[in-house]
Amino acid sequence: MQDIKTYINQNKDRFIEELIDLLKIPSISADSSYKQDVKRAAEVVRERLKEAGCDTVELYETPGNPVVFGEKIIDKNLPTVLIYGHYDVQPPDPIDLWEKPPFEPVIKTTELHPEGAIFARGSSDDKGQMYMHVKALEFMTKNDQLPCNIKFMIEGEEEVGSVNLGWFLERHANVVSNDVILISDTSMISRDVPSITTGLRGLSYMEVEVTGPNRDLHSGLYGGAVANPINVLSKLIASLQDENNRITIPGFYDKVEELSEQERSKMAEAPFDLEDYKRKLAIGDVQGEAGYSTLERGAIRPTLDVNGIWGGYTGEGAKTVLPSKAYAKISMRLVPNQDWKEISELFQKHFESIAPKSVTVKVNAHHGGQAYVTPIDTLEYQAANDAYEEAFGKTPIPQRSGGSIPIVSLFEETMKSKTILMGFGLDTDAIHSPNEHFGIWNYLKGIQTIPLFFKHFARLKQEAKS
Ligand code: BES
Ligand code: MN
Ligand code: MN
Repeated sequence: MQDIKTYINQNKDRFIEELIDLLKIPSISADSSYKQDVKRAAEVVRERLKEAGCDTVELYETPGNPVVFGEKIIDKNLPTVLIYGHYDVQPPDPIDLWEKPPFEPVIKTTELHPEGAIFARGSSDDKGQMYMHVKALEFMTKNDQLPCNIKFMIEGEEEVGSVNLGWFLERHANVVSNDVILISDTSMISRDVPSITTGLRGLSYMEVEVTGPNRDLHSGLYGGAVANPINVLSKLIASLQDENNRITIPGFYDKVEELSEQERSKMAEAPFDLEDYKRKLAIGDVQGEAGYSTLERGAIRPTLDVNGIWGGYTGEGAKTVLPSKAYAKISMRLVPNQDWKEISELFQKHFESIAPKSVTVKVNAHHGGQAYVTPIDTLEYQAANDAYEEAFGKTPIPQRSGGSIPIVSLFEETMKSKTILMGFGLDTDAIHSPNEHFGIWNYLKGIQTIPLFFKHFARLKQEAKS
């Protein structure tokens, strides 16, 4: 029997090789031409879970991509930890900005990663972080240190809104039943400042289409006399935020949960260097809702962002045209108590109401999800806290994140179990961006910390019983 540190040291090259193999599969869920690769990634995860010690592993079909489910039940009377993660990845675009091809992983050192980082799409979000759990299971089973039951539910549609996971949960509620859900799909403050994610924002994702004349027109003959849908769309979008960067949709803030002064000052204690933040992003200044700090704007306040806008001529050279149509994809990040379906409706009503008669607009809602906040005075959080203290020698900071994992609030609704978000990525990992990477130090630290969560969770559960 080996301890985890020795085990990692002796096996780390293989751990890295195995992850690299998984990263070579372009499992892009947003693009249906990658369907076969998505399936192959699911099959590889299934095989690896078997090798790592699961007693049974199965691919469950859904109307979309399969869910990989695996389990090792050592004793029905012991508590069960459910690991959730995703094997699908974001599209790599814009592909030209990658230094090395996104699905040909390379290891490179950087300022923040002197031990090296693996560069590939999905390295941090979420294949690398998900795979830490597979290797943690391997350690626990091979060294007789699995103190409770473990289940894995690894899905292939997280990056497209987990649209079929509700369907899956309805049909397989007892298969996935558990006492706590553990997820590594978020980030921590830095390697010297460990943190546990205690909140996620919700999401409402809209698409708008603005139509002007019934065909593209010569911008010399018609320009100035007929509304240009791209000009109109730009104005409409600009009007969605006021001079204080507050969202102007009526009713948008009605249900927003305001933090107490005490909670806000607690938040302000988290280490944050604004100058460093600006330097890393090469921006001259930050901007956002008046009256809130940068950390607050990015986690506890709702936002509205254009994710893409298109129309007219975008090819080489100059073509004079007054286009017939313009489009935009607009997302709103939401905070506790805002309901994403209600916000989507408010957006639609508002957008239709502000459109001038010179154009027609169509508004469609894509996916969405509710925000999530978890208390820290729970046994589950305590177990995570103790695991980090043992692995890092420091107390982790509870911190709300601005990102979204829509399934987390659904889990709480349908399974009534708490979710613990133990993310080991960094905000600088460039997830969803070109040159995404995951630090090898972070990868191995995750593999070290996860078994400690199991240990402390099992211990605390046992203590609570007696
Ligand atoms: N893993 C991310 C979410 C995340 C990253 C949360 C870092 C906190 C810190 C997840 O894969 C993701 O990208 N979610 C999407 C939402 C989804 C519906 C497409 C997001 O947040 O944009
Ligand atoms: Mn993710
Ligand atoms: Mn993602």
